[in-house]
Amino acid sequence: MERTLILFKPDAVQRRLCGRLLSRFEDKGLKIAGMKLMRISDELAAQHYADHVERPFYAGLVKFMTSAPVIALCLEGGRAVSVARKLMGATFGFKAESGTIRGDFGISNQFNLIHGSDSPESAEREIGLFFKPEELQEYGLCDDAWLADE
Ligand code: RTP
Ligand code: MG
Repeated sequence: MERTLILFKPDAVQRRLCGRLLSRFEDKGLKIAGMKLMRISDELAAQHYADHVERPFYAGLVKFMTSAPVIALCLEGGRAVSVARKLMGATFGFKAESGTIRGDFGISNQFNLIHGSDSPESAEREIGLFFKPEELQEYGLCDDAWLADE
């Protein structure tokens, strides 16, 4: 089992797309381990996007991510990190394949609706930034046995 951090970015909340985006992950078989509506502080945005601090888009990215509430999710399942990235699609909406979240709901570079951890190591770090241990639930679902094959 693997966990990943997903953020429904401010544009997803503002456009009332959260239910439809969450359905994609539930339909695929990922389990919600943690979920909350929150406002990202400047400090948290800086920690989360520390790898991008030298990039030209960094200031705009932090401004966008702190501009309005987001939904933070910790999702769990087999290969959750790569499965979630596939559901999200390529970074920019205009390039992302149809059938993916970014491909179906937008054409923007920056307003790309969703964040997903890019490796299991990033996921562990990011989940620790957004969730306290007691905010994550461990529980079974009735179809667990039908979704796991190893
Ligand atoms: P994310 O971290 O948000 O899941 O997105 P990602 O891995 O697909 O893309 P990443 O390279 O990590 O970039 C982080 C976010 O920065 C914005 N961005 N803008 N204008 C640009 O050239 C540019 N490049 C990246 C996007 O909002 C991207 O999601
Ligand atoms: Mg990234």
